[in-house]
This record gives sequence, C-alpha cells and structure tokens, in this order.
Amino acid sequence: MDLSTRYLGLQLRNPLVASASPLSHTVDGVRRLAAAGVGAVVLFSLFEEQLREEAARNAQLVDGPAESFAEALGYFPAVAEEDPGPRRYLSLLERAAASVDVPVIASLNCVTPGGWTGYAHAMQEAGAAAIEVNTYWLPGDARLSGRDVEQRHVDCLRRVKEAVDVPIAVKLGPYFSSTGEMALRLDEAGADALVLFNRFLQPDIDAEALAIVPSVTLSSAAEARLPRTWIALLHGRVHAALAATTGVEDPTDIAKYLLAGADVVMTASALLRHGPEYAGVLLDGLSAWMKAKGFQAVDELRGMLSVTPDTDEVAYERAGYVSALRAANAGYGSW
Ligand SMILES: Cc1cc2nc3c(=O)[nH]c(=O)nc-3n(C[C@H](O)[C@H](O)[C@H](O)COP(=O)(O)O)c2cc1C
Repeated sequence: MDLSTRYLGLQLRNPLVASASPLSHTVDGVRRLAAAGVGAVVLFSLFEEQLREEAARNAQLVDGPAESFAEALGYFPAVAEEDPGPRRYLSLLERAAASVDVPVIASLNCVTPGGWTGYAHAMQEAGAAAIEVNTYWLPGDARLSGRDVEQRHVDCLRRVKEAVDVPIAVKLGPYFSSTGEMALRLDEAGADALVLFNRFLQPDIDAEALAIVPSVTLSSAAEARLPRTWIALLHGRVHAALAATTGVEDPTDIAKYLLAGADVVMTASALLRHGPEYAGVLLDGLSAWMKAKGFQAVDELRGMLSVTPDTDEVAYERAGYVSALRAANAGYGSW
C-alpha cells in the first residue's frame, strides 16, 4: 500500500501527522510519535505569553533591550536554560529534529503583529522542516472590524514568510464572515499550507463554585464535519496544501478527510486518549480500508469527494442544507 504523501514540499511516508499537543513536550515524546509511524510531527506552540514572561525575567538581568531574537539569544543568561521559554523550545526542536527520521514542524503562536520574525528565523536555524503559524486568537475587542481581524492574519503570515525560507503553514480558526475568502487571501499571500481548523478552548462556568473554569476538552469525531466541509470546498481552489485537524478518532475519519481533499490529516486528541502508539492502529486501519475499497495509493482517493471547481459552491451548500433538513424533518416527522 502506498501511503506516501507530499506536504509543504516535504516527502512524507504517510499522511498522518501528529498535531501540536503536549505529546511533543519532550524529545522522547517526539521519538514515540515517530516510532508509532506518523508521517511528521508538529511541535506544541511557542506562545507569546511565555516570551513575555521570560523577557520580563531577563530584563532584570541584562543590559539594554532585546531587539531581535538573534540578539536576545546572545543576551540570555545561563539560568534561562532551565526556563520553559524560547531557548528550551529551540533546544527541544534541534534535538527532536536530529533524533527522528520524519520532518519536525515548529509551531509559533503569532498573537500580536511585529517582533516575530526573529523567532521564526531561530526556529528555522534550529532545524524546523517547516513552521506552522498558529493564529489562535479570539478578537475580544468588540469594536474590531472583521477586515482588521483578517488583515492581521495576512500580516502575520507575511512577516514570518519574509523571515524564513522554510515552508509556512497557517493554522486558522473557522470563525470568519467568509472563511473561504480568508483562505484565498492567505493562499495569495504565500501560505504553503492551510491547517483547518484551530479548535478554540472555550472556558466553562462552574455554577456551584461561581467561577470560570479554564478547561481543555478532547474532540469528538462529529467535530470533523466543519473542517471537512471546508476542505472539500477549498480542494482545487487554492495552491496551498490542505491539512485537516479535528475529530480523527478512527481510521475512517482519516479516510473521510482524504476523500474530501486533505493532503495530510492531523491528530492530537486520539493520541492523547489512547497513547502515541495509537498512530500505528490508525495507519493499519487506513491501509485495511484502502485495500477493502481497492485503492493502492492515497493519491488515488484524495479529493474524490471534494466539491469540484466547476460546482456552484453556493448552490452546493444550499442543496446540502435543504436536503439535510428534509431528511431530518422526515425522520422526526412523527414526533
Ligand atoms: C491538550 C492540547 C494541547 C494543544 N496544544 C496546541 C498547541 O500548542 N498549538 C496548536 O496549534 N494546537 C494545539 N492543540 C490543538 C491540536 O493540535 C489540534 O489542532 C486540535 O486538538 C484538534 O485536533 P484533534 O481533534 O485531533 O484533537 C492542542 C490540543 C490539545 C487537546
């Protein structure tokens, strides 16, 4: 069975990618993911908050402002080695990239514009095969216009693109007035891949304790429908590769994303639930499914159920909506 796949200009042995999660917090974790068979590993994100905290700590120890990361690295005191900041991240990236035979992709959380080019460059220097720009950002300021929010995503990509030569993937959320146009704009701005979608971790409220509870819940397979719909719509309409993330629980979830047109399929929750070795189960299941359906290579099935470029997308969406409602109405009609 030929599972080989191209993604971000990289040759992968298969389309299953371990997406950013705590499983890549250590070199050993990355090794386990690679040993389980994944085609590539995306490291957890380097977050702005970490950098701010670390900068504040270091500001007390060094002379002068740290204008860029390259300079800042030189300034870092030895104690920073023990901090969970950029130096540690870069060290992990360097060691992980050297110890596995699959591409290791770094992830950068580009929350505010400016100041990020240095970190992207440092990631490239540390051996990142590519960089995933994690645009996890909910615009809390209600006065911010949708156009400004979109522009921020494009600016962020442009800045990182200018700083490095390695391919850049943009991981974005689904909440835009026109997600399709956002994808097209990022494509035009040079995104080498679009990762659909970031999963927002909405806090809950504990009514007993009268408190806000920040919580991370793992995904369910039903959540894959939204990214899958967009992948089916964008396949063949963008130059960027399409990476699916959210809701892969069993091998058929991978198959469904590939049929919709995904170049690679990422997974985090399933590996957190069952352990990194579960990647092997997913891959064996994908091969078995392909064999049962008579496919010999993933390229044969990729995009088979995408929305072809000659389809009227609006009519397609409308028809899907209307027929789904008709079926539901018929099913629940006797209530
Ligand atoms: C505990 C946890 C930590 C995560 N950390 C990151 C992160 O650092 N950067 C990122 O881009 N996504 C992060 N994610 C999101 C995952 O990479 C993935 O996109 C999301 O969970 C949807 O995929 P899934 O349904 O396979 O879990 C995290 C998810 C979980 C559950």
